Amino acid sequence: MIHGIVDGFAYGGDYNPEQWPEDVWAEDMRLMKEAGVNLVSIAIFSWARLQPAEDRFDFAWLDRAMDLLAANGIGADLATATAAHPNWMSLKYPTVLAVDEKGIRYTWGSRQAYCPSSRVYRDAAAELVRRLAERYKDHPALAMWHINDEYACHVDSCYCDTCAAGFRGWLTSRYGDLDHLNEAWGTAFWSQRYGSWDEVMPPRYTTTFRNPSQVLDYQRFMSDTILELYVMERDILRDVTPDKKATTNFMPLFKPMDYWRWAREMDIVSWDSYPDPHDPASPLANAFDHDLMRSLGGGDPFMLMEQAAGRVNWRQVNGMKHPGLMRYHSFQAVAHGADAVMFFQWRQSQRGSEQFHSAMVPHAGEASRSFGEIRNLGVELAALAPMAGSRIDADVGLYVDYDSWWSSEFETAPTSSAPYTADLLLWYGALRDRNLPVDMVSADTPLEGYRLLVVPRLFLISEALAERLEAWVASGGVLLVTAGSAWIDETTAVHPGGAPGPLRSLLGLQVADVDPLPPGTVFTVDFGDHRALDGRDWREELVVEGAETLAVYAEGPMAGRTASTVNRLGTGEARYVSFRPGPAAMERILEPALRIAGAEAVFPVVPGVHVTRRRADDGRTWLVLLHQGTGEVSVDLPRAGCRDAVDGRDVGSSLVLGDWGVRVLEEPIG
Ligand code: GLA
Ligand code: ZN
Repeated sequence: MIHGIVDGFAYGGDYNPEQWPEDVWAEDMRLMKEAGVNLVSIAIFSWARLQPAEDRFDFAWLDRAMDLLAANGIGADLATATAAHPNWMSLKYPTVLAVDEKGIRYTWGSRQAYCPSSRVYRDAAAELVRRLAERYKDHPALAMWHINDEYACHVDSCYCDTCAAGFRGWLTSRYGDLDHLNEAWGTAFWSQRYGSWDEVMPPRYTTTFRNPSQVLDYQRFMSDTILELYVMERDILRDVTPDKKATTNFMPLFKPMDYWRWAREMDIVSWDSYPDPHDPASPLANAFDHDLMRSLGGGDPFMLMEQAAGRVNWRQVNGMKHPGLMRYHSFQAVAHGADAVMFFQWRQSQRGSEQFHSAMVPHAGEASRSFGEIRNLGVELAALAPMAGSRIDADVGLYVDYDSWWSSEFETAPTSSAPYTADLLLWYGALRDRNLPVDMVSADTPLEGYRLLVVPRLFLISEALAERLEAWVASGGVLLVTAGSAWIDETTAVHPGGAPGPLRSLLGLQVADVDPLPPGTVFTVDFGDHRALDGRDWREELVVEGAETLAVYAEGPMAGRTASTVNRLGTGEARYVSFRPGPAAMERILEPALRIAGAEAVFPVVPGVHVTRRRADDGRTWLVLLHQGTGEVSVDLPRAGCRDAVDGRDVGSSLVLGDWGVRVLEEPIG
């Protein structure tokens, strides 16, 4: 049961009946039941159909579609339809359209062209949402609400005059007056001093580097402003249907919105996952995103709201999902804590810019291989219903911070060749390869339950957070901070004395300088046994101030200088790694940290196989075994008595996984 919405796992996809004559709808119902579909997201892009003119609404078609769903026992994740506003609105009220950084106003004809600050958009959206809520509040098909769609996917910042005014208001509440703004933004630099609020602008098109503090604050402002749209709709829905939950669908490794702030406002976290079948690194990023989504929801089951049954249509090369890969992706979501496996979309469009994007029911119809896989997946998920609602226990926390993401990638950063997410994925990948469950954590996450906290490139850190980390270490935590951390404070000012600012005494060191290297540069480090292990792309000149040296740079300009340290405090310790480790160095770093922390893997390492465990409140546990790749791999099970959770049979002492093979095993109790 996902959050009381459907029994067992939710299974279905975006359903766009308005694209089809109504005689196709009956066929849809037959095929949905055949596939085991129990939830569909409906009316996501239906605003123009629901409100064909400013003074005219038409819900009759949606009434019929909702009735049909109810008659067939299928729940509606009913959308508020506000993701694409109608053309009549753009024509009559041009300021409803967003403006880019060069001052060019977008034209209608695609989707999501609205300015997030537009009063016209907000009022019209609010009215539509209230009408939908009032109309369908007692409808038997209504299972939950789908607010808007992928906020900020296409327009993550608007630079129009309305947004400029909003920005000034946001800055006024943050800084109070211009003196404080000038101070925080460091406007003594380059003659940037602001003498009146009218001079303060969004970071629009200009000659060269923009003020980094202005850029960061604009990013925060836009995240907050677009979030206001979500909250506005959610509050209307809560008012009319207090018993229904609401979500909006997040996106993978999505930089523009601070999802920690967003998730606080959401009843259920959901997201859209589109791993590239041609990218061998995509399963890793996908696993990371699943864990992030679960963590954003405080560990509650999340929804995989969209994925592709096969090809997408928006990459250079839109790779097919070979047999088994769609199933692998689906179970990857389940493995990381999803209680819903949903697709974009139910029936492949005949027209429009997504006509070549796959769907649960492809152009080739129900006899196709891909629909066969959809049907089989429905059967499997139904059999796994007892597993829905179960959770994941993690000893390891991985710090994910949007301020650090935004600021460490400033156009003025020491290197532009090192995306923040590459650091996250480097450390996350090493933990995943060891079958260690990982939760993502933020400044608001209670840390008590974690044994090891890995903090990759926490570029921006406040004094308050540093104090929390210090207290957590003193009480027994093992902290692992990595290169590029603790440079600046919340206002983007460099900490006194440079990095690691307020972590200096906790880590027992100072970073005197850094050495960004061209991507692919390899150098060696030595952990005290004269074995030359690889480091990559970045190294730092450390001044040790009490920490114990664990490794030194073995060659080059820093030969003999400290590369990695540990500093003990209370019953815990703080470790620092000043370079990006290759696999062997990573092992030397993680092994003692995990051992000392007492962090436990859920399964022995089998190359190419990743294993997670879900635990139900009643103590039942399941292992999900995922084979990342093709060919056959044999897996020995460390304990006897596991049953295949789909067919109930005892699996014995070993099993074989084929191409993208997945098995879900229920473990014996105790
Ligand atoms: C996003 C959107 C969907 C659709 C898919 C296509 O996830 O939410 O409406 O455009 O992409 O991949
Ligand atoms: Zn705007």
